[in-house]
Amino acid sequence: MANLAIVGTQWGDEGKGKIVDLLCEHFDVVARYQGGHNAGHTVKIGERQFVMHLIPSGILHPGKFCVIGNGVVIDPEYLLNEMAQLESLGISFNGRLLISNRAHLILPYHRAVEKAAEEALGDRKIGTTFRGIGPCYEDKAARVGIRVCDLFYPEVLHEKVFANVKTKNTLLAALYHAEPLDAASIYDSLQAVADKLQPYVADTAMWLDQAMKAGKRLLFEGAQAIHLDLDHGTYPFVTSSSAGSGGALTGTGVAPTRLHGVIGVAKAYATRVGGGPFPTEVKDAAGEELRRRGYEYGASTGRPRRCGWFDVPAVRYARAILGADALAITKIDVLDVFKEIPVCVGYRYKNSDLKEMPAETYVLAEAQPVYKNFPGWQKSTVGITALESMPQAAQDYLKVLSEMTEAEIAMVSTGPERNQTIVKEGSSILKLIKKK
Ligand code: GDP
Ligand code: IMO
Ligand code: MG
Repeated sequence: MANLAIVGTQWGDEGKGKIVDLLCEHFDVVARYQGGHNAGHTVKIGERQFVMHLIPSGILHPGKFCVIGNGVVIDPEYLLNEMAQLESLGISFNGRLLISNRAHLILPYHRAVEKAAEEALGDRKIGTTFRGIGPCYEDKAARVGIRVCDLFYPEVLHEKVFANVKTKNTLLAALYHAEPLDAASIYDSLQAVADKLQPYVADTAMWLDQAMKAGKRLLFEGAQAIHLDLDHGTYPFVTSSSAGSGGALTGTGVAPTRLHGVIGVAKAYATRVGGGPFPTEVKDAAGEELRRRGYEYGASTGRPRRCGWFDVPAVRYARAILGADALAITKIDVLDVFKEIPVCVGYRYKNSDLKEMPAETYVLAEAQPVYKNFPGWQKSTVGITALESMPQAAQDYLKVLSEMTEAEIAMVSTGPERNQTIVKEGSSILKLIKKK
């Protein structure tokens, strides 16, 4: 009865949503464990396209349960809007969505502080999604956060909201000369959402425990990726949560002994949104071609994604930290037109070779990628469903990625649709998934 995590190995947008959607049929519960509506997971089903920001992608599968775990940060108004939007598309939440009573709430002052702080950073800005994610996690760590459970205790809520708004207004005025916020209106709007959210709120850790006891299988849906992880990413150009497989446990209350496998999702090239080092970024026509073919625009903010070549040290690092037994390589079809495909096999910094990603982000920012070029296949791979049907050069490219990252490739995605996927039937991770 295997429980599995799907986690990003690069800088986000690897296609985690598609892989979760694809594997959903083998699981009963899909749980988000970190991040918030900074995520954007696109799932294409036939002619219909859904972009999920906060709600686990499993909601698109009738009969599957979805959990928003304690590690997620929730903008309550945003959540209700996303639910309404999905309901208008025919998705039913009835008894299928549970929200942790321990999850922290993103409130308007988090967005205000983030906006002011990002502006103040000038050239050093992180390039956040402006969703209030960072300041909400700051409050959580500072032990002044407001949690979902607080919504149902008006006196507690009132006291916390007024105390926090007072502190934030002092900060906003003194540091950023920004406008103050009105505590009463924030409190009123929270009261208005509390009733609507109540039917979905539960102690999800205990619920998950019972679900596992009843033989239900869990799929953890990662948001962001390991190189945006607060501990392991390209700090400070990261998000403020644990996007790796460890986060799946702390962010849901499921014990480490109950996570049985991890699939790392990697694009066949690389992208990044926002600031921070990205050694393999290509700013010339090839980068533009990757963006155009991969339609690389942020699902949350619409920003053009920075595009570049596959970075082996980055994904090898991810494999190690995530314990990714297997990789799903996505968007290989985007590479179909290239005559040669460079792969970064290490970095050169000043006069030394770097084989692994350095902790010093400023070193990584100056490091030059060392490339090995591989022949392209210049044939369409769109929709191919068997490895043997892939052009030989594409098979060789995948073999190289597997060898260099020291990971088994269990899946290859050849298009956004569910059925546009190669699944390596003999892979150990699939055996694990199918184990009864
Ligand atoms: P996530 O945040 O990791 O879930 O990824 P996003 O949804 O933000 O970005 C991935 C994008 O690539 C989405 O628009 C997907 O529909 C699309 N996609 C996923 N797999 C493939 C693939 O194999 N080929 C192509 N061309 N598009 C894909
Ligand atoms: P999914 O789940 C790509 C990036 C932002 C910014 C940094 C910090 O779709 O892969 P934040 O608002 O989180 O404080 O911003 O992280 N970022 C993402 N980039 N995909 C995402 O999510 C991202 N979520 C945050 O662009 O650089
Ligand atoms: Mg995304």
